[in-house]
Amino acid sequence: MTLLAIETSCDETSAAVVRDGKVLSNVVSSQIKLHAEYGGVVPELAAREHLKNLLPVAQAALSEAGISSLQLDAVAATQGPGLGIALLIGFKAAQSVAFALNKPFLGINHHEAHLYSPWIQIASPLPLGGDRAGVRGGDLTVEHSPFNIQHPTSKMAAGPPVPSMLSVECSALNVFQKPRSSPSLPLSSEGRWKPVLQADFTSFQPNLSLIVSGGHTMLVLVESDLKHRVLGGTIDDAAGECFDKTGKLMGLAYPAGPIIDQLAEQGNPKAYDFPRPLLHDANDDFSFSGLKTSVRYFIRDHPALLDDRKRICDLCASVQAAIVEVLVKKTIRAAKREGVRCITASGGVTCNRGLRTELERVCKQNGFTLRLAEKNLCTDNAAMIGILAERKLMAKMPLPALSEEIQPAWQLA
Ligand code: KG4
Ligand code: ZN
Repeated sequence: MTLLAIETSCDETSAAVVRDGKVLSNVVSSQIKLHAEYGGVVPELAAREHLKNLLPVAQAALSEAGISSLQLDAVAATQGPGLGIALLIGFKAAQSVAFALNKPFLGINHHEAHLYSPWIQIASPLPLGGDRAGVRGGDLTVEHSPFNIQHPTSKMAAGPPVPSMLSVECSALNVFQKPRSSPSLPLSSEGRWKPVLQADFTSFQPNLSLIVSGGHTMLVLVESDLKHRVLGGTIDDAAGECFDKTGKLMGLAYPAGPIIDQLAEQGNPKAYDFPRPLLHDANDDFSFSGLKTSVRYFIRDHPALLDDRKRICDLCASVQAAIVEVLVKKTIRAAKREGVRCITASGGVTCNRGLRTELERVCKQNGFTLRLAEKNLCTDNAAMIGILAERKLMAKMPLPALSEEIQPAWQLA
């Protein structure tokens, strides 16, 4: 089955082609730079960008996958939750394509798709070019994102390049090795080997899933494939929002999460003691607005701190430590209580190195299997929408009418 998926729930325009669990393409045009100027996502601007970018992004996804729209068996799009005027664009466009091709259409819950994104992994070691072209020295630094986040031939993606983070991630995964003799590894148009992202549910097991992004912090019990139950969520600010807002108080650019992540590496996480909201409450809910307020008062009372880079790094490390401790401890506690042996995590904040490292440490200590979404699949992307849609079609779940509308406030149950 070959399926086109579209995601426009917030500030990323994305289209992906998936076939039999394999991600043939996943093109993402990020609007991060556009919204940075305003310190947050401006819905009207997001919608205009989606309108401008959707067609080229979808065309790029089809061409990268090497297929024409006539070869599609189904179409899917994010139906909710998200910004209404942003969702509308991708959802209606996808419905129109399905209508024109007379193919099945599926509206997907964005959060449900996040639940399955950690099961999409790099399927094979993938070198860049036959002779390590693009790999500098003995180190595994890459020239281009190995994923299609930045389409190499277009200027669609506006996200800032993060080569150092990518190289860390890639070397950890050992992605860019010398080519093995397998003739089946695909070459990109520039003669580079491309990574193959493949959903693998063969090792699927019931898991506790942490979805942690700019808009949401959720703990979900995934009981079996396509069956889940939400255990808790944020009652005010989400974790990503807390990173962004406390960063703003420190004078950092939007989105501050990745910047705090970098500065925290050089800081002392024990320098300042911030509250760990709801850590000991007997529920799976989160609250981060009190932490943000506490940082606000702390900066008000110690304004000189912001003139000292070392102390800013300490502040970043201390704020990050508070957020990470709450996320990790509540996730582990819920997993133990629910009796699952696997933990998964996705959403933009899952890119945070402190969170990834701590989850890895604690899961190892407690004997949990940990599946973290690949960093480029943590943030919003159409690949996860396509993989879930394909699973639903394969499970023969009933197809909704083509007249369905977006659901901006669609809550995962
Ligand atoms: O999932 P996402 O791209 O969008 C939604 O909010 O749906 O997540 C964006 C959020 C932002 O709040 C951003 O600051 C945060 O993820 N984020 C990070 C990191 N990378 C992205 N937060 C902490 N550390 C990071 N490395
Ligand atoms: Zn998301």
